[in-house]
Amino acid sequence: MSSSSTFIILTFARISAALVALLVLTWALTFKTSFTPHSPFSQQKFIYNVLHPLLMVIGFIIISGEAILVHRWMPGSRNVKKTVHLGMQGVALSCGVFGIWTKFYGNNGIVANFYSLHSWMGLFCVFLFTIQWIMGFLSFWHRGEARRARMTILPWHVFVGLYTYGLAVVTAETGLLEKLTFIQTTRNVSRHGSESVLVNGLGLGLALLSGAVILGAISPRPQQYVTSSAKLRYSNDKY
Ligand code: HEM
Repeated sequence: MSSSSTFIILTFARISAALVALLVLTWALTFKTSFTPHSPFSQQKFIYNVLHPLLMVIGFIIISGEAILVHRWMPGSRNVKKTVHLGMQGVALSCGVFGIWTKFYGNNGIVANFYSLHSWMGLFCVFLFTIQWIMGFLSFWHRGEARRARMTILPWHVFVGLYTYGLAVVTAETGLLEKLTFIQTTRNVSRHGSESVLVNGLGLGLALLSGAVILGAISPRPQQYVTSSAKLRYSNDKY
């Protein structure tokens, strides 16, 4: 992939991320009644209700997507890139754990709330993300290990990382659908009204963002492309 294609993919990913952040913030700040608990009203519960989508979408999905792309845009040594990648994934994971905690805390108890597909997928996704982060953290401190061992682990790291990122986006989509269905049926929110359009737009924005992040992650880097073409030419010359 040429450097101009990489630039286009990264720009598209950033524009989608900005759009998604803007939409989720507008939803949380403009349509406050959708996050207001039924009686009795509690300011604390309202804050937790608003914080959950904000932390999950901006903190967990957007930051982890940007962390995935670090190796595509960041100049500097491999070690600097790995440190920034690990640090950003750590911030995303903290937001994810805190985001789930807001629901546990706001909904009186852990087990009582696990009735939905969204909650099951959410827990599975954050569990996988935690394992992946711990493995990444441990391998970061074992840099001296044989290069071959690290090369064997790398494809698994890439697969589990992208799978978990995809799961996070799908989980957020189920969360949006669940919340929208709830407010449309219990709070007289119109199916064609501005709030419904905004939430649908947010879901579409997440779909576009994840496409750009995954494409950016799997496309070969410009120098990688040159190296593999050179290798191919060399082997053709040889035989
Ligand atoms: C990666 C993104 C997300 C993850 C991992 C996630 C995870 C979770 C988990 C584990 C729960 C269950 C907690 C409990 O009930 O005690 C939950 C509940 C909930 N989430 Fe999310 N969530 C995400 C995004 C969203 C988004 C974008 C919304 C949109 C508003 C949302 C709305 C809700 C709602 C309404 C509940 C309470 C009802 C239920 O348990 O299904 N979530 N979430």
